[in-house]
Amino acid sequence: MINIEKLQIAQEKIIVEPSNNIFHELGNNTYDLRDLISELIDNSIAARRPDIRLKITIEFWIDNNNNCNAIVVRDNALGIPQNRLGVAISPAAVQSSNSLNEHGLGMKQSIAGLGKLKYLATKTPTEPKARIIRELKYGQLPCYLADFNDISGTEICITEIKPIVNTNPSSITKTLVPYLGARYRRFLKPENRIAEVSIFTINKKTGDLQYSWDVVEVKPIYFHPSTRNNKPVLENKKISGTGWRAELTFGYAPTDNELKELGIVDRQR
Ligand SMILES: Nc1ncnc2c1ncn2[C@@H]1O[C@H](COP(=O)(O)OP(=O)(O)O)[C@@H](O)[C@H]1O
Ligand SMILES: [Mg+2]
Repeated sequence: MINIEKLQIAQEKIIVEPSNNIFHELGNNTYDLRDLISELIDNSIAARRPDIRLKITIEFWIDNNNNCNAIVVRDNALGIPQNRLGVAISPAAVQSSNSLNEHGLGMKQSIAGLGKLKYLATKTPTEPKARIIRELKYGQLPCYLADFNDISGTEICITEIKPIVNTNPSSITKTLVPYLGARYRRFLKPENRIAEVSIFTINKKTGDLQYSWDVVEVKPIYFHPSTRNNKPVLENKKISGTGWRAELTFGYAPTDNELKELGIVDRQR
């Protein structure tokens, strides 16, 4: 091992420059459409306003060949203030101390994984207009202003959509919607709805709505392996032998949190 306490100092300096390739490379991951959309939803949820219900819309713009050629994800959350926009764009620059899975990469990974940024518009409640950026890169970014339809929020528009984006209506119904319904179930509870998540497909040429989905709470199946029933496989089945009697309940055991979520009071297990 070289003793680094006793080194000779060299004359030359090695300069490490940030490379804009990172914004493209971040898209080379194993995420699928559900994961990529979820990264954007996570951010909207994290930035939700305490005073109004969070609304998130995901629009897939479909061309005449039935291909998706733009995705727009919009929320009415707090928006990104001007002094935080640079840090929000720089990969891994955000330090979120309150959550485990936030590494300051999600939005950039999501954009690059889905396609290419067309624009990101964001408006805070106190600003009159939305601030718009049209590319992700290091250094000085040109910034534009535009009217925004809400008091505050963020709208991300992505084009040059990659083939992993399957916007076939039956695929959206079977995979994307139930996944989001389960993943965000605690925000979608009808009795205490914190967020509305809607998905649309829109005809690019005419602007007409084709299909729409409202993501609803999907309760996970904890107990029973094969029926869509949150009940044990066997419940209080009476068994007895000589001199003893018992009741058998058998199934996958939910954790305490899962039981709470199912509204089941734990009876001394
Ligand atoms: N929809 C949004 N509303 C408000 N702020 C956002 C939104 N999306 C991203 N941001 C801001 O951009 C930052 C970077 O997002 P992201 O790349 O997903 O990394 P992370 O979520 O790990 O911080 C977030 O911390 C947040 O401050
Ligand atoms: Mg994030």
